[in-house]
Amino acid sequence: MAEQLVVDRLTKTFGGIVALNGVELAFSAGELIGLIGPNGSGKTTLLNIVSGYYTADRGQITYENQPIAGTSPHKLARIGIGRSFQVTKVFRRLTVMENMLVSGLSDWSETRSQASERATAILEDLKLTRLRDERASNLSGGQLKLLEFARIMMLQPKLLLLDEPFGGVHPELKRFMYDCIRKWNAAGITIILISHDMGSIFELCRRVVTLSYGDIICDGTPEETRADKGVLEAYLGEHHASA
Ligand SMILES: Nc1ncnc2c1ncn2[C@@H]1O[C@H](COP(=O)(O)OP(=O)(O)OP(=O)(O)O)[C@@H](O)[C@H]1O
Ligand SMILES: [Mg+2]
Repeated sequence: MAEQLVVDRLTKTFGGIVALNGVELAFSAGELIGLIGPNGSGKTTLLNIVSGYYTADRGQITYENQPIAGTSPHKLARIGIGRSFQVTKVFRRLTVMENMLVSGLSDWSETRSQASERATAILEDLKLTRLRDERASNLSGGQLKLLEFARIMMLQPKLLLLDEPFGGVHPELKRFMYDCIRKWNAAGITIILISHDMGSIFELCRRVVTLSYGDIICDGTPEETRADKGVLEAYLGEHHASA
């Protein structure tokens, strides 16, 4: 089948820093891809460009056969590109349910009752039902992560970009997040997962893309990635050394 997302010679610089150096990638619908690399290697920048938060200096992005470079995050969300942020973003003064409805209602042709019905089901799925009327500011870090997941699902993404979802999350919750990610992927959602947590990446993803200084240095299975000399030097070696 055709590729769902194609990134063609994407370059992004910040001042003198080359964050992405002509990156080329193609993803098929339904893949669950890990995106790894040392700090500052360009992972978040790639996500920011695909989701419309940054504009590339050069290069093309094609989503479902349409060029999308320069499209706003808002429009991209409407055509199915959803994302999470490295630092969780929710409306802290609003309740859990209000957060859900803000995500859902912004410009869908959906009535409030349809939206709240969907929200209720998603909250149930993410075990947040008992917190529905709690203000987001009262949630724990882990509960905020789940609320962010829930809000993303309100947008019914077809391509989901997750930036460090496991940061600071305790093991039990991490397991639950794995289950969610697997379930969404099994339902057909393409997922690109950024994480420094190699255990999570190697357990969840059959394909792992490694960035180093804005270049793809490896694109393969977890086994190939673990055995790759360049990856070891650029990334895994340092992690093993500090582990
Ligand atoms: N808005 C920005 N302004 C200036 N420089 C930036 C900006 N965003 C990213 N950079 C730089 O671009 C490079 C790539 O950063 P990026 O955030 O994409 O890395 P990363 O792989 O996500 O790192 P980490 O694992 O630490 O999250 C870094 O050198 C970073 O300092
Ligand atoms: Mg990052």
